[in-house]
Amino acid sequence: MANKIIVTGGTGYIGSHTVIELQKSGFEPLIIDDLSNSSPKIVDLITRITGVKPVFEKVDLCDLPMLQKFFKEHHGIAGVIHFAAFKAVGESVTQPLQYYHNNLVGLLNLLVCMASYDTANIVFSSSCTVYGQPDQLPVTERAPVKQAMSPYGNTKQISEEIIHDTAQKSSLKGISLRYFNPIGAHESGLIGELPIGVPDNLVPYITQTAIGKRDKLTVFGNDYNTPDGTCIRDYIHVCDLAKAHVVAVKRLVDGENEKPHEIFNLGTGTGYSVLEAIRTFEKTTGVKLNWAFSDRRPGDVEQVWADTTLANIKLGWKAEKGLKEMMASAWEWEKNMAAGILQS
Ligand code: UD1
Repeated sequence: MANKIIVTGGTGYIGSHTVIELQKSGFEPLIIDDLSNSSPKIVDLITRITGVKPVFEKVDLCDLPMLQKFFKEHHGIAGVIHFAAFKAVGESVTQPLQYYHNNLVGLLNLLVCMASYDTANIVFSSSCTVYGQPDQLPVTERAPVKQAMSPYGNTKQISEEIIHDTAQKSSLKGISLRYFNPIGAHESGLIGELPIGVPDNLVPYITQTAIGKRDKLTVFGNDYNTPDGTCIRDYIHVCDLAKAHVVAVKRLVDGENEKPHEIFNLGTGTGYSVLEAIRTFEKTTGVKLNWAFSDRRPGDVEQVWADTTLANIKLGWKAEKGLKEMMASAWEWEKNMAAGILQS
């Protein structure tokens, strides 16, 4: 079986969960990561969970000679799952050049190496951010891509286009996976999201407030045109998301793709408001959250949730875990971090 898969960003949040699912499915993931937003400890924790130590090398995708060396030393790569990118939306607005350089040069170098070393298959980590505020909900993959709200979002759009155009004119085959809102942590409680500094995203902010690291959660806006006035998102468990990557890369390796570049939404198909997310956290964990409303956060879309029919039918994949499991696992992870799991 052609089973070696390079996972760029494999020590990151979604990457690490995907490495575990790849190992469980008989693939041999090889991690490359520049560790700019993750810890090498994750490799040991993955090993503790699966009993198999994955290959890991610290590689910056923007360093072409270093990347070429990695491809040269590891023969017979069946595919690449590409997560490595900067992802802080707000930071991308203040540091656009850094974001365009890192996210786009990294992808270009990867595609150059894949072409040189006969690796045809790439699964790309995209985002529902490409839809902006969709005209129709739930949003399907046929919905138009809207003007990006941030350089981060733009790098996702441009990356999809780079893969699309390259796949039309070469042996490259790509699948772009548009994630909705990934949350939660591995059932072992050993790996999860590791926000550095103050988190931007809702669920890490909730768990950090609950554990006492933050005083208060701010709910951005209560005057949206939604049933309770707060924004609606399609939250998806990171392990469900990880499984979709395994299915996607297998589809490419087995030559089952129907087009050179395919796009799939990955969500649950159900939207929850911020207040529903807070209530579910409180109910599931028994912990009361200190929160208050403030003004809307600039750039937030009002509501978005996925039509997942295409992924259900073509990939044979469906998200299985509900919001309660997502919140419970995120909370276990937060408590384990507070107990020093990353120091031990
Ligand atoms: C953001 C990005 C998206 C990225 C995703 C995952 C934007 C426009 N989109 O999604 O591209 O893929 O993160 O990294 O930034 N909220 C609060 N209080 C908080 C934090 C969030 O009320 O402290 C609310 C937000 O207003 C939003 C919801 O919670 O309604 C979810 O926010 P967040 O977790 O940051 O994700 P998105 O903004 O949906």
